[in-house]
Amino acid sequence: MSERFLVTGANGCIGAWVVKQLLEQDIEVTAFDLKADEHRHLLINHGSMPKAKWAFGDLTVAQDVEDAMAGVTHVVHLAALQVPFCRANPALGASVNVVGTVNIFEAAKKLGVKNISHASSIAVFGLAADYPDEKLSLDAQRLPTTLYGVYKTAAEDVAKVYWNEYGIRSVGLRPHTVFGPGRDQGMTSQPSVAIEKANKKEKFHVEYGGVLDFQYAPDVAAAFILAARTNIDGAPVVNINGHVVGVSDFVEIVKAVSGFSDLTYGTNQLPVVYSADAQDWIDIASPPPATDLEIAIAESLKVFSKSAV
Ligand SMILES: NC(=O)c1ccc[n+]([C@@H]2O[C@H](COP(=O)([O-])OP(=O)(O)OC[C@H]3O[C@@H](n4cnc5c(N)ncnc54)[C@H](O)[C@@H]3O)[C@@H](O)[C@H]2O)c1
Repeated sequence: MSERFLVTGANGCIGAWVVKQLLEQDIEVTAFDLKADEHRHLLINHGSMPKAKWAFGDLTVAQDVEDAMAGVTHVVHLAALQVPFCRANPALGASVNVVGTVNIFEAAKKLGVKNISHASSIAVFGLAADYPDEKLSLDAQRLPTTLYGVYKTAAEDVAKVYWNEYGIRSVGLRPHTVFGPGRDQGMTSQPSVAIEKANKKEKFHVEYGGVLDFQYAPDVAAAFILAARTNIDGAPVVNINGHVVGVSDFVEIVKAVSGFSDLTYGTNQLPVVYSADAQDWIDIASPPPATDLEIAIAESLKVFSKSAV
């Protein structure tokens, strides 16, 4: 049976890259999101819209999810509300991030879909100060400090229950700081905005400093596709890794690669752990290494410079 992927949150940053990469592999895609929003697709596809089957609906409405999943072999479940949106509207955040995930697994149970990847987050962990080591061990306890982190923790456990009780396989990935074209919202989007501003030669200040695990959006998208194709039993949720470097280092690379020097950064470390062991993911899927940071930033600048939007 040939593959057809359902991508939820298809208009989001990671979703737009997942749709693009699947179509480049000649895979049929059902792209699910609340409503039409072309801006990230146009940005990363140099002004044209990808030829996916569009399914607009609400993740919190079970029937919308079931309708979108009809005829699908694989699911990449990304739709969610990020930290600021969960903070602004906690009930909606719980509804989208938790109930929405339940709807995905219920539809998968009903329709017999067993290849699912879903987005958790590094936010299931606590503050760096909560752990003895700088690099979180594989068995580090989840200690979420935001509602978003609590919802993602619940969603991880939802996936495990659907494996234990119904044999629905899934792999959850916990991205950290996704960067690149299309990353224009959420707490850690500012380094990506710095790349966009450098391309336009517009001054920009990243409000924080410290260290983050920078993960290139096309790499993360490829990881979600790989995870959905991993036919392993269980419902593991794993950390993925990119480049654990200072915000200052990142911005200095943007300055060097773009030749634009009017970019600055703060000093405060965001209250998140910044490095987590990704060995479980390597063992499960043998992912390719992260794209070199300079190459990723140079590619990103090129996308922004070619953009028609
Ligand atoms: N970007 C990061 O750095 C990062 C880090 C860790 C985890 N994640 C997780 O990865 C996933 C994708 O992240 P992203 O950066 O692409 O997010 P994004 O905010 O760019 O996109 C999320 C998409 O979900 C859609 N959506 C929201 N509510 C919906 C609903 N009720 N029904 C249908 N669609 C809905 C939005 O319209 C949006 O297009 C999310 O689950 C996010 O929590 C992202």
